[in-house]
Amino acid sequence: MLGPDGTPALDPQHAALRVLARADQLATLSSMHQGIERVFLSPEHAAAHALAGDWMEQAGMTTWRDEVGNQCGRRAVDVPDAPALLIGSHLDSVPDAGRYDGILGVLIAIEVAERLAEVELPFAVEVVAFGDEEGTRFGTTLLGSRALAGTWQPEWTELHDQDGITLGEAAQDFGLDPERIALAARAPGSLIGYLEVHIEQGPKLEQQNRPLGVVTGIAAAERRLIRFIGESRHAATPWELRQDALLAAAEAIVAIERIAREQRSNATVGHIRVEPDAVNVVAGMAEISLDLRDVNEKERDEVWSAIRSELQSICLGRGIDFEVESVHRANAAVCDPGLKSAITAGIRSATGEERPMELLSVAGHDAMAVAAATGIAMMFVRCAGGISHSPDESVTAEDVAVAIDAMHAAVLELAMRVAAGDPDAAA
Ligand code: GLV
Ligand code: MN
Ligand code: MN
Repeated sequence: MLGPDGTPALDPQHAALRVLARADQLATLSSMHQGIERVFLSPEHAAAHALAGDWMEQAGMTTWRDEVGNQCGRRAVDVPDAPALLIGSHLDSVPDAGRYDGILGVLIAIEVAERLAEVELPFAVEVVAFGDEEGTRFGTTLLGSRALAGTWQPEWTELHDQDGITLGEAAQDFGLDPERIALAARAPGSLIGYLEVHIEQGPKLEQQNRPLGVVTGIAAAERRLIRFIGESRHAATPWELRQDALLAAAEAIVAIERIAREQRSNATVGHIRVEPDAVNVVAGMAEISLDLRDVNEKERDEVWSAIRSELQSICLGRGIDFEVESVHRANAAVCDPGLKSAITAGIRSATGEERPMELLSVAGHDAMAVAAATGIAMMFVRCAGGISHSPDESVTAEDVAVAIDAMHAAVLELAMRVAAGDPDAAA
């Protein structure tokens, strides 16, 4: 296996440069002319997964695409039906994305599997590149990891994208059988755990001058669409006769910020759509998205209750109706203590830090879906300025090299504990 300059990719710096070169290569697989966008079941998804599959094979893995379109690889030396440690993340992206969100985790997993190629382990090692974490095409997130975890809902084949293409049709065009997607579920007992490396998507590691962090858990999340329904009227309509849906939405957006700030919670309105969307017409309908995240379901739902009663009073005052559709709901996920302590040991070994930094992830990850099937743990890598979901996402080769070392050491630590019969080593 050769590094970017044609020399063997064995030392950490070479491996890190190879990861960055591969991320650059994946960045070219985009549906945008300028910028990165790669959505579930698209031609770009197929191309990115084929490339990842090639890299997995070069790393000594046997590969396959599962029933939902996740790209999987397993070390060829592993006993065929031995339970597996899964390591992975996702290759889909938001519109105008960076090149590391999800991607870095998949590429580091491939490096770690290659480094372990000749090592005898008490479990199999599989790498998985999930097809949908962001949920930008069909509105529902984590479709790849939920199918693998056995929580696929058959009605999701009826979800449709903004062009009216259903998920079932897109799956068929992709070469999948929509009736068989649920078969991507891993059999109970076939997994010993799931590890994921991800960029932090926040500034805490950088502020503390640390390359890596241990994730303690992932915040509870819910996404809704809120539609304000007023009346479309001519721009000449006097104020007292207007039922302006867009003004109600605007007032609601500001109120959402206030409430979430007061409750030290996290709320984002990132989408707005107006009908009829004309300069000289009072808007008859305005739709906004609302993404809520908090440490647990209770706190998240308390914020929603406060927002909901504010929406009621705003709409009452303006003669507007509103309706709410929940499009994604995920419970908080707590990292498995045994797997988490292997990550901690890995970071300790790679950085020399006695007490690696621990962080809660506000961002959602495939790990939260996989938690339905097996124990999970995650490691964060510092990203410049904490910037993510932006073309400005950036990581350094030095941090990537340390992350590869740390994950490698984490897997070896876990192997040692499993081999020693430690019942708390993994899930
Ligand atoms: C995924 O990036 C999310 O947290 O929305
Ligand atoms: Mn993301
Ligand atoms: Mn991600």
